Amino acid sequence: MPDRWLVTVIVNGREYKRAVEPRLLLCDFLRHELGLTGTHVGCEHGVCGACTVLVDDQLARSCLMFAVQSDGCQVTTVEGLAASADDLHPVQQVFWDAHGLQCGFCTSGMLITTVALLREKPSPTDTEIRAALSGNLCRCTGYQNIVKAVRLAAERTNGRV
Ligand code: FES
Ligand code: FES
Repeated sequence: MPDRWLVTVIVNGREYKRAVEPRLLLCDFLRHELGLTGTHVGCEHGVCGACTVLVDDQLARSCLMFAVQSDGCQVTTVEGLAASADDLHPVQQVFWDAHGLQCGFCTSGMLITTVALLREKPSPTDTEIRAALSGNLCRCTGYQNIVKAVRLAAERTNGRV
């Protein structure tokens, strides 16, 4: 088996080619190889949701995937949400407006999970919001304002996320 495998992956619309060790996790690839440190790493075993990204438009815990498994895929990280630094994605804006974050450690995972939820269910109930976010742990907020932010995001975006 070679020491390094060539991975070609499109991240936030840009193609990257890197030779990586087969054991390299996708979260470490994003953070250390590509410098996309918006994807956070908490538990490193699939529990906290901080590392959540979209892989081919499906939610994925990037700590539970090897970078080589993303070969040929499209990955979206939190850096891919906003059009520019001055133009937040509507889901980012509502988290700001509704005070849906404190320290921000969980926030990138919350945002990605919210985008996936609203693409699937443009008008989720509170129960569906809570179920969707149940795999994303937050140590700060008590979740009330996060749920409020997702509700507001649904109202503002009406499925256009
Ligand atoms: S770091 Fe991946 S789920 Fe916690
Ligand atoms: S805002 Fe601090 S962990 Fe959620």
